[in-house]
Amino acid sequence: MCGIIGYTGPRPAASVLIDGLKRLEYRGYDSAGLAVVAGGRIQQAKAVGKVKALEEAVAGSGALGSLVGCGIAHTRWATHGVPSEVNAHPHFDESGNFAIVHNGIVENYQELRRHLEARGCHFRSQTDSEVLAHLIAGAYEGDLLSATAAALEQVSGTYGLAVVSRHHPGMLVVARKGSPIVIGLGKNENFVASDIAPLLPYTREVIYLNDGDIAAVTAETIDLRNIKNVPVEREVAKIDWDAGVAEKGNFPHFMLKEIFEQPETIENAIRGRIDHEMGTALLNGMNLTARELAQITRIVIAGCGSSMHAGLVGEYYFEDIAGISTSVEQAAEFRYRNPIIEPNTLVIPISQSGETADTIAAVREAAAKGALITALCNVVGSTIAREAGRGIYLHAGPEISVASTKAFTSQVVVLLLYALLLGRNRRLNRADGNELACEIEAVPGLIRQVLKQAPKIREIAQRYAHCDDFFYIGRGCLYPTALEGALKLKEISYIHAEGYHAAELKHGPISLLDERHPVMALANDIPGKDKIIGNIQECRARKSPVVAVITEGDDSVRAFTDDVIEIPACSRFIAPLPTTVALQLFAYYIAVERGCEIDQPRNLAKSVTVE
Ligand code: G6P
Repeated sequence: MCGIIGYTGPRPAASVLIDGLKRLEYRGYDSAGLAVVAGGRIQQAKAVGKVKALEEAVAGSGALGSLVGCGIAHTRWATHGVPSEVNAHPHFDESGNFAIVHNGIVENYQELRRHLEARGCHFRSQTDSEVLAHLIAGAYEGDLLSATAAALEQVSGTYGLAVVSRHHPGMLVVARKGSPIVIGLGKNENFVASDIAPLLPYTREVIYLNDGDIAAVTAETIDLRNIKNVPVEREVAKIDWDAGVAEKGNFPHFMLKEIFEQPETIENAIRGRIDHEMGTALLNGMNLTARELAQITRIVIAGCGSSMHAGLVGEYYFEDIAGISTSVEQAAEFRYRNPIIEPNTLVIPISQSGETADTIAAVREAAAKGALITALCNVVGSTIAREAGRGIYLHAGPEISVASTKAFTSQVVVLLLYALLLGRNRRLNRADGNELACEIEAVPGLIRQVLKQAPKIREIAQRYAHCDDFFYIGRGCLYPTALEGALKLKEISYIHAEGYHAAELKHGPISLLDERHPVMALANDIPGKDKIIGNIQECRARKSPVVAVITEGDDSVRAFTDDVIEIPACSRFIAPLPTTVALQLFAYYIAVERGCEIDQPRNLAKSVTVE
């Protein structure tokens, strides 16, 4: 949530900062601001709304756009205080000599603010972040890094912080605790940011700060310390994403681009991970021996949003394929519920960003209880990937659209590979393992076939775009698929949509059904289909229009539905993947029809870094 970019070097700072904010906008987009230190002063611009509004403000502000110097910028997702220019970052101290941008939450800000106000500081905003600017100014004795460290010692909560000062032209000070900061290394220039997306056009070499790290960055130097002011060394990591994958190309929205990328992203998730000779999966990043795998007696999956839904699909895989008792926890619930972790419990945190606050906390809770942890993340070097130590990367490339699409399907595929490995490690024989491996390899082809039907799905979507409510129902692995389909619809089209187990419909929701409440029934030709047909008839009897996802050529469901979306034939384990792609397209085209902000839906953010 919220994005930070900072720059020091010979380019006009504001244009680097605005370009960076555009690439970070998916993290928050209710207001934005920047500050540039040049010519002995700090100049700033702020605007409510998208980064475009800030760009216009900078263009209208004369020299600011062309100033060479160093600067910091921020795009905000409001926590404390409404979206407004005064609440937009950067925030300044009383004298205007220090400016900060901050991600995270200062938990003791009310107490700090009272102290600072008693000492004569005047606050301009309602944010928790503003206290940081006043604290740094109060601690300043000629050294910006030490003043920042001293200020942060008084703070409880989380921060990814960037600071500039009129007294230190060309210097950025950054610090991290619980909210990521990465330094991008350039030639005669350096960058700081809250994630790598804005750095991609400029550099492939980065340093990830650890919690408790603080650094002074100039165009030529990086002075890296811990909060106790002791110098520390951090590795330089190489990024293999290229800038092009974070561009929209010819697609009208990132979401549509990412939906259409899925045949390739799934190929990337599978590549090099199947061993046909042994009929198993190769997942080296887990670093576990066959013996260690065989000792696992229970699996707990933790995640939020779409990642939790992927986990719910995984639950079927681990139980059915590997015979290991599995449960899925909303990560926030896991962290606060004092979960039971036995010696042979495997915890699998799932997170596209690797930065979701509740999932990070779940990893820490699991680690404290001695669990074996293997994480599924997309963003390389992210907090969860690093703290878990072992894991499997999704290789889906940057996912920019706030609603998750390609990361979700990659998570499901990787969970299936994981279940194959654990299955072969216990009850699955080589031939059955190989059969599943071949099915997994066929997934990209199945998804290509679904994508070819986009025009037809669009037509169906147009017929339902006026609805205010929608139910999604499924059974087995298609039950969590229904939850994910409903989530996509509500996220981007603002239609109230609920996913239910088809059998649960009769336990309450059926009372709502009438001609204004359509039902999306996942009626693929896999075990459970006959029961779903019964459920569809129950819906029809209440006059609900029914759209069904069916297996190509299966006429047994068609007669009971108003519209059908056909999916190529595949087994029950594979069915969630092509079905999800069809549901993504359905949600997307409904949102297009309703004229919604698809890539950045209201009130949402790509990574939720607060509880
Ligand atoms: C936010 C995003 C969702 C995502 C969830 C979990 O709510 O809008 O798309 O599924 O966070 O994010 P993670 O990065 O942990 O997968």
